Formats: sequence, structure tokens, C-alpha cells
Amino acid sequence: MAARKEKVGIIGSGLIGRSFAMLFAAAEYEVWLYDIEKSQLSSAVNEIKAQLKELQGLQLLRGSLTAEQQFNNINTTDDIEQCVKNAVYVHECVPERIELKTAVYAKVDKLLNDTCILASSASALLPSKLAANIQHKNRFIVVHPTNPPFYAPLVELIPSPWADSDVVPTTKSIMEKLGQVPVILKKEIDGFVLNRIQYAIMKESWRLIKDGIIDVEGLDKVMSAGLGRRYAFMGPIETAYLNADGMYSYSERYATMIEGVMATFREPDKFDGPVLDQIQSEMEQLVPMDTLQARRNWRDKRLAALAQLQKRMDNEDEKK
Ligand SMILES: NC(=O)c1ccc[n+]([C@@H]2O[C@H](COP(=O)([O-])OP(=O)(O)OC[C@H]3O[C@@H](n4cnc5c(N)ncnc54)[C@H](O)[C@@H]3O)[C@@H](O)[C@H]2O)c1
Repeated sequence: MAARKEKVGIIGSGLIGRSFAMLFAAAEYEVWLYDIEKSQLSSAVNEIKAQLKELQGLQLLRGSLTAEQQFNNINTTDDIEQCVKNAVYVHECVPERIELKTAVYAKVDKLLNDTCILASSASALLPSKLAANIQHKNRFIVVHPTNPPFYAPLVELIPSPWADSDVVPTTKSIMEKLGQVPVILKKEIDGFVLNRIQYAIMKESWRLIKDGIIDVEGLDKVMSAGLGRRYAFMGPIETAYLNADGMYSYSERYATMIEGVMATFREPDKFDGPVLDQIQSEMEQLVPMDTLQARRNWRDKRLAALAQLQKRMDNEDEKK
């Protein structure tokens, strides 16, 4: 007899919730997707079905199940109890508003098993604030995904300060089973790590455009054809390490130059006004607003192809 599938509850079936539903379904969990908006649930189901079919056609499905088998692992409900009762893991994916998220936790708190992990996709809300008033604060963790989680596997794990010692290792192993790449933050900090780095890049990009140093198209190329090429498979620290003969050599060769440039950085600009108008208008020339969904699909295909390439190269590395 086949082993009973472990149950996972996903609360919120928007961009992030539906992507996690696909990931858990591919890893052979029994998935229950819940939303307060019935129309969101039906659009999630239609989109998931279409995406799985397309991924199967492109041979880019995750796991070993067919698209149909994966789809059959996903159930939807408008009853929160049916979603979370007896789940081993519950993943909250509702909008980034503390009063909304904490209202959801107040409802699920009394329905959860004591061993169930309660995860949040929060992008910036701190676990110490999110979990402060819940009974299961010892089972709470933020699992911050990268959008879209199906194609960009990094997840940041930030446990609540009250988390039991098994919460981080169990969540890490669940994420690895999905094929995600977890990193663990030792302490909470505003913006976590991914967004702090992303916003540092955004801050300087804004300034360079504002000061008329480069246009939007050129700025984005610096990342897509330059820095991003390496960053797709190694971080800034290893990049520096290899760009010289280790970190001491890097510091010896470049520290004075880097510190000199860094001294010209300045306080962040406001993200509005004429620079916002200029960036929106230049972007509209490159990607018209009525082609956003097509452009997202273009992005997702490339992310999926990149994931395949990386998997193939990882397999080759393992064989060596
Ligand atoms: N979209 C991103 O790029 C991204 C990336 C990383 C993390 N996140 C985080 O993930 C979370 C979800 O974001 P999203 O982009 O999927 O939002 P979204 O707006 O696409 O989806 C939110 C869903 O939650 C539902 N919802 C609202 N209140 C609810 C409730 N009380 N109970 C159940 N469902 C409810 C909505 O109907 C909607 O379907 C946020 O915390 C966000 O910050 C988003």
C-alpha cells in the first residue's frame, strides 16, 4: 500500500501561494489551498493546470510525477479548518499587512497540531512581530521566497525568537525536498538579506539614472549582461575571491579604489517625482504595459531553462 501523503495547507492563492502549491504537489504532498476569494482559487487552479501542462511539454516539470498526477495532489477549499487541520506544515501567503496576517494566525492557532510548522512568506515583516501574540509562536518561521518560487529556488529562513530547536532543520529539509535552496538567517533584520541587497542595488541604480549617467536600458544591461551573468551561479564574495588570488589579495589590490568609490555613495533618493516618471516612460518604450504578462512568461521560461542548465552542470560536477 502506498504511504499516506503528508498534508500541507497553503493560505492565500495569489502569486506566491499558487507557486508553492505547485512545488508541494511536485514533491508528492497532499496540498490544500485556501483563499477568502473564490475567484482567486479558481484562477489559481486554471493557471496551475495550464502551467503544469506547458512545463511537461518543455520537459521542465519538477519531481517524477506527470502534470496530471501533480495537479491531482492539489485540493482547494474555502474552509480554513479543512486547509490546516492535521497538516504537517502550513504556509501563509496573504498580502504583506500585519493586521491581515495576524488575523489569519488567530484563526489557525486553535486548529493546528502542536508539531505543525506555521510558515509565512512575509517579505519584510519580522517574525518577532508576526508571532508575538500567537499560541504556536514556538512553531513559527518566516520562509521568504524569491518570486517566482517555482523558478527561483532561494528561500530565506528566519525563525521566530521562540522557535523550537527542530523548526529550522525541519523547514530546511522540507524546502530541500521541494528542490528549493534554503539559507538561514541567524538573527532577524529589516528586509532580511535578499531585499537588503536588492534595495542597495535599486538605490544606486536610481541615483545613476537621476544624475543622467546612464539610461534605463543601459542600467539594466549592466546587470543582465554583466554582473548578473556571474551572480546566476556565484555570489559577490566568491566573485571577489576569484577576481584576485583570494580575499587578502583582493583587499590589497582593490580596497583603496573600492573605499574611494563607496565614499561617493550618498543617502537614498525618494522613489518618486520626475525620476519615477522618466523610468516608467523609458520602461514603457522597452516593455509596453499591455505586454507585462507576456514578458513575465518570457522571464519564467528563461528562469526554467537556466534551472535546467544548472541542474545538468551540477550533475556533471558530481560525476567528476
Ligand atoms: N509577489 C512577490 O514578488 C513576493 C515575493 C516574496 C514574498 N512575497 C510575499 O508573499 C505574500 C503573498 O504575496 P503575493 O504576491 O502572493 O500576494 P497576492 O496579492 O498575489 O495574493 C494574496 C492572496 O491572499 C488572499 N487573501 C487575502 N486575505 C486573505 C485571508 N484572510 N485568508 C486567505 N487568503 C487571503 C487574496 O485573495 C490573494 O489571493 C506577501 O507577504 C508578500 O510580501 C511576495
